[in-house]
Amino acid sequence: MEPRQFFIEERLELYRNHCQCNLGESGYHAFTLGEVMDLAQVTVEDLREIPLYDSPNQGREDLRAEIASLYPGVSANEVLISTGTSEAIYLLFHLLLEEHSRVALYVPAFQALYEIPKMLGATIIPVPINASLQAQDWMKVDADLFVINHPHNPTGLDFAPEEQTKLIELLKTKNKPVLFDEHYRFLDRKNELGWSGVSPKERFFGTGSFTKCFGVTGLRVGWLIADETTIARARSFKDYLTHTVSPISELLALKLMQNRKQFLQKIRTEVENNILYFQSRLSELKDILSLNEIHGGLVSFLKLREGLTSESYADQLFQKTGVFVLPGKNFEREGFLRIGYGESHEKFKWGINEWIKFSHKT
Ligand SMILES: Cc1ncc(COP(=O)(O)O)c(C=O)c1O
Repeated sequence: MEPRQFFIEERLELYRNHCQCNLGESGYHAFTLGEVMDLAQVTVEDLREIPLYDSPNQGREDLRAEIASLYPGVSANEVLISTGTSEAIYLLFHLLLEEHSRVALYVPAFQALYEIPKMLGATIIPVPINASLQAQDWMKVDADLFVINHPHNPTGLDFAPEEQTKLIELLKTKNKPVLFDEHYRFLDRKNELGWSGVSPKERFFGTGSFTKCFGVTGLRVGWLIADETTIARARSFKDYLTHTVSPISELLALKLMQNRKQFLQKIRTEVENNILYFQSRLSELKDILSLNEIHGGLVSFLKLREGLTSESYADQLFQKTGVFVLPGKNFEREGFLRIGYGESHEKFKWGINEWIKFSHKT
């Protein structure tokens, strides 16, 4: 049992640290440890005092309580701290799926959301994405597990408030487990915290993190939200994988979560300015035909002009300008590019200007 290559990772590995402007990433540009300590209000003395023992296997309790408070009606016992959202997804799929289980999800998708189920012998039921995410997309879908990633990667789409209510009502009628992958909740364009569909008592499980939204992907902290029985099983499975999360990461995670009101607005403003700048220059990008609506998160999916192939386009753009974007082919969807809005505003503007010049020469 082995998953196929993780296509976006192959490309990110090659380019993310060698480009002039990183539009390939789906996270906010990274802070240094010193900056994170300032944001989190953690002193050198605090770091010196961290005992480097194994954290509790389920994650430290105060961090779990802080995360639980993001979900109405969820308690700290219904939270498992994991090594990134990836581990939480991996664990939950292993607990919920059997060979031939049917897993329904929006496509294109973040590859782990279908590759791990495929590896486990599940059948994938693709749910096509239209101009917006709507409850009725799921009306006729029959599956053993429904996977709903919102704000959605790679499109950046989300459910409007009236659709959220309809979706929950519809999913309840299916009487099957649901995985809500809600990695980008902290960067909703309208609200301080984006909507969540998670409700452990309905078996509407959740995975999430703050690392992409806060510019700290290197902390490798994520979580799973589920009923206590599922959490206990996931924790036991995790004992064979990563066992515990570093106490250094857990302390920084806790303090960042507690102090987020003081720095998140600045991140939101920078991302918003990048989105607005991109929208204002879009018509000058001759190779891009359209851009979907952006409700939240840090990415969107752009339709390429007919006749262009996404990989060779992304390669040429990188070689000629140093601007890095992800080809749709890496999401198994030719004819598109995914761009991220997490780069610093100055670099973002520079990159878009270079891209416009490039597009006038192709
Ligand atoms: C939708 C989605 N889910 C899960 C993940 C995995 O995130 P992590 O870096 O926390 O493991 C990503 C990463 O890009 C993602 O976009």
